[in-house]
Formats: sequence, C-alpha cells, structure tokens
Amino acid sequence: MVISRKPIRRAVVGLQWGDEGKGKIVDEFVTEALERNDGKRVVVARYQGGSNAGHTIYVRSASGDLTKFVTHSAPSGLTSGADVAIGPQVAFNPLAFAQELQDAEKTFGYSGRVLVSERTGVLFQYHKDIDLARETGGNGVGSTKQGIGPFYEDNANRVTRIHFADYVSDKFPERLRKVLDLKRRQLEELSLWKDDLADSILAEHEVPRRILRENSVNLEYRMRDYFAGGNHIIIEGAQGTGLDVDMGTLPDITSSHLLAPHAFPSLGLSRKDFEIWGVEKVYPTRVGKGDLPTLANDDFASVAEMAGEMGATTGRRRRVGYPDWLFIRRAVALNDCDAIALTRVDNVQDRNLKVCFAYQVNGFQTVEVPMNLDGVEPVYGRETYSWNLWEGPKDLSDALRVDSELKEKRKALVSSGFNGLPDRLKEFVRSHDAFVGSKTKGVSIGPGRGETIYLE
Ligand code: IMP
Ligand code: MG
Repeated sequence: MVISRKPIRRAVVGLQWGDEGKGKIVDEFVTEALERNDGKRVVVARYQGGSNAGHTIYVRSASGDLTKFVTHSAPSGLTSGADVAIGPQVAFNPLAFAQELQDAEKTFGYSGRVLVSERTGVLFQYHKDIDLARETGGNGVGSTKQGIGPFYEDNANRVTRIHFADYVSDKFPERLRKVLDLKRRQLEELSLWKDDLADSILAEHEVPRRILRENSVNLEYRMRDYFAGGNHIIIEGAQGTGLDVDMGTLPDITSSHLLAPHAFPSLGLSRKDFEIWGVEKVYPTRVGKGDLPTLANDDFASVAEMAGEMGATTGRRRRVGYPDWLFIRRAVALNDCDAIALTRVDNVQDRNLKVCFAYQVNGFQTVEVPMNLDGVEPVYGRETYSWNLWEGPKDLSDALRVDSELKEKRKALVSSGFNGLPDRLKEFVRSHDAFVGSKTKGVSIGPGRGETIYLE
C-alpha cells in the first residue's frame, strides 16, 4: 500500500543577524523532499536580499568526504538538482547568478528549472560601486559591499528600476540608457561615471541575458502551479530578523523585508499552507557594525576561531555572543514561527552557557527589545548550561578537516535521536522552547547534510 504524505511546504528564516545555518537546513529539507521519490518536483524560492547572503553547504560524497559549496545569489537547491525560483523582492545580480549556476552544473550536474519573476529588479555593478564608495568614504553601514542599499533605493525610486522582463528583452539597451541618464549626477559625484558606461554594461551582460532569457516568468502563477500540482516548496530567507529594514535593530540593518510572512504574497503563496521554521544558532553572531547585547568579552569569544565563524561573503570574523532568548522570543513572534532548528550545538562543546532573559536599558529592566540596542545590557539567568557530545576537544574550525572518529560520533548521535542527547542539552532546549514560545524540531550537531536530529 502506498501511503501518501503531505508535500513539504516550509519557509526558513533566520532569527538572529544572519549566518544561523539556514543554507544547511534548507539543503536538508530539499534532500528530504527529493528522497521521497514521489514523482513530484522540488522548488526552492528566494524572496529577498541578494548576493549579500552567503549560504555555506557541506555535501557528503559516497566516500564520506565533505564538499563545500557556497551560494550568494541562488538559493541552496543548486546542490541537489531542485528547481529554483527568484521572487520580485530579490536584488538580482545576473552575473553572479549565472556564475553560480555554471559552477553547480560543473560540480553537481545541476539540471533543475530556474524561474525568475519578471518583476524582479536587476542589480548592476554600479550599485556595488556606489556601496563600496560609501563604505570606503566613511558613509557606510558596514555593508557586504554587494550593492544592496543602492539597489533598493533605485527600486523604491521606480524610474531607476530595471525589471528582469525588460533586462532580458530587446528593450534593455534603451531602458539602461534612460536609467543611467537619471543616475549620472550621482555617479559623477562619486567619480564613478564613464562615458562608455552603458556600452560596457551591455557588453558584459550580453551572454547572461541570452542564458537567462527563457527564465523570465510570471512567478506568482508558476508558484501556484507548483502548489496545485502537489509539489514540494521550500522558501529560503537570507540574512536574519535583526537585519530587517523596518523591524531590525536600527540603524545597522540591511535594505530588504526579510521576515518570513513577507515571502508569501510576493511568491503568490499563502502563509496558511506553510510551516515557518526559524533557524537559530545556539549563540548569536554579528558581522559588520551594530550592537550585540550579549557580546562575549571573555573566553567564550574564542568560539569564533574554534568554530570557524568567518563570513561566507566577506571573510570577516563574526563577533560572538551568549544565547539571547529575549531577542529570539521577539523574532519567533515577528516571523510567526511554527518550529525552530537549533544549529551549531556542537560548537559549544564543553562551554558554560549563560542565557539572557531581559535587558537593562538606562538603568531599567525590560523584557521588550528596543528599536536600538545601543547601551543595552543583558540580564542573565542564574542557571548555566554545559554539555558534552563527545570526549575531549576537537578541531571544528574547518568543517572539511574532520577526523573519522568525529564523523562516526555525529552519525551515532543522529541515529540515537533527541533522547540520546546529553540531559543538560535537552533541558536547555526545553527551557528555551518554554520561554521563546515555539518548539525546537531540529538540533544540528554538525555542518554536513544529515547531521541534524529532527523531532516529530
Ligand atoms: P548589506 O546588506 O550588504 O547592505 O549590509 C548591511 C548589514 O547587514 C551589514 O551589517 C552586513 O554585515 C549585514 N549582512 C548583510 N547580509 C548578511 C548576511 O547574509 N549575513 C550576515 N550579515 C549580513
Ligand atoms: Mg551567511
């Protein structure tokens, strides 16, 4: 008898400041969907941000070795042959995307479908140049220099936006010249203007425009087709709640709306049909500027080196903080989370974790997260948590250089499930869930695909 199961419909969003491990979780959801082998397609959709994102995925080959793959523009489905969709709120960099597509074809034999909303705005090199000029000229926000801020300014300004449908059509040269006319003064002020700018952009984009021409679609309808056909749909957020343009911790934020509920209307889907998964790293990290209330000034900070906490896009060292459940509780509420995947539980092996439950702001204790974290002091609970997943220290700084004993250990942990985890870790998870108001349904104990314990 064939037991029919419901298709996988999940949205994945970061609950901190990015780098929570969303790429890995999405990759596992895609794998789960593909392994059903039910003749249905699997589509991974991105709904915001651009190549400021960096999703690192470690795929294990048959020999047990890990291969590292990083995507910036494309969603994580490229490593497994899933279809990928780019929503209208994405800052779409066709050069970067075409490159990632080619890399995936070479490395994994990628042969999925690629769908880009005809409404999606195109990000050009001049956006990156403006971003860079601001960052180096002292007017920056500590950005990833991928042109994100300048791109969204042009989008909101409407007349300076170039839609993907126009980009791949014969209208492009004329549209581009018109837009560059409007941007000329700004580019001149930053010494970024060249008289042959339009020609060089046209030349550089000739091939990607041809490659991607077929991919321009009326995405909301195509996503509804996927849905109606009983196919698997995974929505992938980039960055994290603390960086949302309106609801993030001002002023050090990105320029897109990244809360999960924003995804649905832009993709033509309905929130009620999806399970929203928040991804939370057991300890928060931040790159660039911006306050981190629980920033560790003690030995706990060395988790950054021990765990290889370096930006996938910028290579910058990430600052590390103690668990901040007050922040998570708000992120859970804003994203309307149904489940949480807790990541990097192995990276705090043998550490003593204290947990922040409240903030001290101007001498007053509060359980509300203020719009600005400047001067906020954490209030920690009395209880601390410590767990050991294995005996003795292991070098976790480079996920690719893992000894065979550790590989086996991780495998054994996954097969013994949640109940097989150390008691103190289970207590940590239970208190966490009670406080933040959601349920931890995934505990990641290693960087590789399959190294997550899923609970039902
Ligand atoms: P932008 O998005 O490049 O404009 O950068 C704005 C802020 O968001 C900076 O503090 C970046 O470091 C941060 N940021 C943007 N994307 C990511 C990400 O994917 N992970 C972590 N931080 C990010
Ligand atoms: Mg990242």
